[in-house]
Amino acid sequence: MRLAVGAAFRAMSAVQGRPRGLVYEKHGEPAQVLQLKDINLPEMGASGVHVRMLAAPVNPSDINMIQGSYAVLPDLPAVGGNEGVGLVVQIGSNVTSLKPGDLVIPADAGLGTWQTEAVFGEEKLLKMPPDIPLMCAATLSVNPCTAFRMLSDFKTLKPGDSVIQNAANSGVGQAVIQIAAAKGLKTINVVRDRPNLQELVDRLKSLGADHVLTEEALRKPEVKDLFQEIPKPLLALNGVGGKSATEMLRLLQHKGTMVTYGGMSKQPVTVPVSALIFKDVKLCGFWMTQWKRDNAQNKEELNGMITDLCTLIRKGQLTAPACQEVPLVDYQLALKASMAPYVSAKQILLM
Ligand SMILES: NC(=O)c1ccc[n+]([C@@H]2O[C@H](COP(=O)([O-])OP(=O)(O)OC[C@H]3O[C@@H](n4cnc5c(N)ncnc54)[C@H](OP(=O)(O)O)[C@@H]3O)[C@@H](O)[C@H]2O)c1
Repeated sequence: MRLAVGAAFRAMSAVQGRPRGLVYEKHGEPAQVLQLKDINLPEMGASGVHVRMLAAPVNPSDINMIQGSYAVLPDLPAVGGNEGVGLVVQIGSNVTSLKPGDLVIPADAGLGTWQTEAVFGEEKLLKMPPDIPLMCAATLSVNPCTAFRMLSDFKTLKPGDSVIQNAANSGVGQAVIQIAAAKGLKTINVVRDRPNLQELVDRLKSLGADHVLTEEALRKPEVKDLFQEIPKPLLALNGVGGKSATEMLRLLQHKGTMVTYGGMSKQPVTVPVSALIFKDVKLCGFWMTQWKRDNAQNKEELNGMITDLCTLIRKGQLTAPACQEVPLVDYQLALKASMAPYVSAKQILLM
């Protein structure tokens, strides 16, 4: 959906009725514990911002939060969702950085974005430029930011250097491909095999992926042939864990770094001793929520990153991930698809 902010505001202003949200009162399987209910908005107060939510994705961390297995958990009952985009409809008297009609995204995790309207503190929101397409804005604050930081903060990379990643068709993976391509980096992208593999390979290549291979191909000796064309990777980005991570480590350059940001296989990372001793590889983790909290006082870094990402969006170098838009009332369909394998489309709840 490409909807400019003015049109979105007028469309949403026509919507009446009580605010509703996807609420859970206890942790458990999202399909069972989430309910779409009327909600009471808190008082706006002097520093509150009344937001009409427009669209919000279903990310793996949202699911883990509802299941109760995420690192930060809100007090219950809570509204699901950590990411999304909304329109400011009213502001408290002390609010200076936002005005009605502004497009906003969360500056922190745990806001509860799966609701039609909400009142958030001014400091919890970031203003988005009005020309950013709605789906890009709805999916910007988590995955592209994570990709941006991981490509910037762990290794000094120059054009022509290469990066390897698994879960390359994930939201993070698609952003890594595009941001890396914009920096002139070469990417080796690992995905799980599937019946329509070539379709996925073509899609990732159209985003700028240099090489796309399956987990099985990653384990074959012929994978080394890649390095006649491009250098061995200095950086590996691991969103899967298990064997997939071990195989990426084997291909890293001497003194390369592997950053683990997700564990979709739910398997631990096993490190070959030789990789530590003879290649001196470094293993680190990254968590966007922690980065945002570490940089909460001085928003310069965060705003700078959002500005850089918006510049890439305007240049057509960064697009929203492949999406499936689902009306809020059909949230059960979105939950099911978000947890199913090989779907390759981010579920976006339309409010
Ligand atoms: N650390 C951070 O700050 C941070 C930030 C953002 C995201 N994350 C994490 O990054 C991961 C990806 O998030 P996302 O929003 O980009 O995901 P997403 O768009 O929902 O995509 C999920 C990805 O995981 C893959 N996958 C699922 N189960 C798998 C398994 N058993 N083995 C291997 N791959 C599997 C899927 O591949 P198929 O198509 O083959 O099913 C797909 O590529 C999640 O773990 C998320 O929590 C972390």
